[in-house]
Amino acid sequence: MIRLALFASGSGSNAENIADYFQNREDVEVSLILSNKRDAYVHVRARRLGIPSCTFSKSEFDEGTAVLELLRRHDIGFIVLAGFLLKVSHPLLEAYPRRIVNIHPALLPKHGGKGMYGDRVHRAVVEAGETESGITIHYVNEHYDEGDIIFQATCEVLPGDTPEELAGRVHALEYTHFPRVIEALLKKIAPRGQQFEF
Ligand code: GAR
Repeated sequence: MIRLALFASGSGSNAENIADYFQNREDVEVSLILSNKRDAYVHVRARRLGIPSCTFSKSEFDEGTAVLELLRRHDIGFIVLAGFLLKVSHPLLEAYPRRIVNIHPALLPKHGGKGMYGDRVHRAVVEAGETESGITIHYVNEHYDEGDIIFQATCEVLPGDTPEELAGRVHALEYTHFPRVIEALLKKIAPRGQQFEF
């Protein structure tokens, strides 16, 4: 059994979709939802799903001890950032090498980096006149949106698209692919949860 922690800063629709996907499984459990925002809607979703959720401050996150203690207490083996807006701190990166993945709502390396999240990304894509956008799932490293890319899927940007219309198309890609990519990654973890094969 591998236990996942989902980190989300806002609505948490991806977090809920992932939790739904892995419900009633014997090999994977979404055990914890964490946020840097006390009033994030993801906490409401967590309550509904019966998954414990907690909030930490940016300074607690950067310092690491309390968050790592929480992750250890819940025996978390893998971390998924699903709409999480803080840069992941060194203590977490060291404790979970190649075990933290993020989803970005565009085709990295374009339209990523500090401050590029959610609707801002879709606005940038539309304003740049792109004809294609999509999703990028990548390992997390010490830089925003720069870890090795694991998976991308694309969608069209149609003439006259608003950022909201594009967001709808990108969200649909996220819901379809993110849980499946996580599942594929987890299959590559050694049985004892100690080592990746890649
Ligand atoms: C998602 O589209 C995710 O790709 C994006 O935030 C949204 C969260 O939506 N993440 C980033 O922009 C990270 N840079 P949700 O809270 O409804 O899942």
